[in-house]
Amino acid sequence: MVVLISGTGSNMSALMEAAKDPAYGAEIVAVGTDREGTRGIQVAEAAGVPTFVVPFRAFAERSEWDAAMSDRIAEYTPDLVVSAGFMRILGPAVVGRHQAVNIHPALLPSFPGAHAVRDALAHGVRVTGTTIHFLDEGIDSGPIIDQVAVPVEDGDDEAGLHERIKVVERRMLVDTVGRLAREGWTIDGRHVRFGRTDTKEIR
Ligand code: GAR
Repeated sequence: MVVLISGTGSNMSALMEAAKDPAYGAEIVAVGTDREGTRGIQVAEAAGVPTFVVPFRAFAERSEWDAAMSDRIAEYTPDLVVSAGFMRILGPAVVGRHQAVNIHPALLPSFPGAHAVRDALAHGVRVTGTTIHFLDEGIDSGPIIDQVAVPVEDGDDEAGLHERIKVVERRMLVDTVGRLAREGWTIDGRHVRFGRTDTKEIR
C-alpha cells in the first residue's frame, strides 16, 4: 500500500508497526504527502520507507496536482492507497486509477470536510467517532467500510476530543486495512463486504 499523509502521521505509524508482522498481510511501499517538512515524512524516512512529496502549491491547477500525485503513486504499483490524515481532496486522476480508502474523524455522512471534530462539537452531538471508507469523487462520500463511535464528554474541546477519536481510529484503521489485505473486498453499490475469491497480498 501507499500511505498518504499531511501531518503528524500517527495513523501511518500504527500501520507501519502492524506491517512489521508478515502475518498482517500488507506492506507499506511508500508514504506520500502534499506538503514539505511534515513530521510523518520524517518518521517514514527514519524507518527506511520510500517517501515522495507532491506540493499542492507548486501547481497552477488542482487537476495538474492530482495527475502528478496519481503518477507518483503509480510508480509503486500499490494494490491500495490509504489516505490517513491526508488533508487534500483527491480528484479523478487518483480516484479513477487507484483503489483508495480514507479515514475521517466523524461518523459520516455527518460532518464531512476538513473540520469534522470542530463541526461535531459546534453542532452539539453527544456521540461522534471515526469512519473508514473507500474514496469516490465526492468529499468523504464513498462506501463505508467501518465506523466506531466515541461519546462527547461535557467540557470537551476540539483537541481533547480529537485525541480520543484518534485512539480508536488507529485501531480501526489497522484492523480494517489488515482485513482488506488478508480477505480482499467486494464493493456493491454503497455496501462493502470483506472477502473475494482471488484474494492477493496487498503491496
Ligand atoms: C486523523 O484524525 C484523520 O482522521 C484526520 O486527520 C487526523 C490525522 O492524524 N483526517 C481528516 O480530518 C481528513 N479530512 P495523524 O496525522 O496523527 O494520523
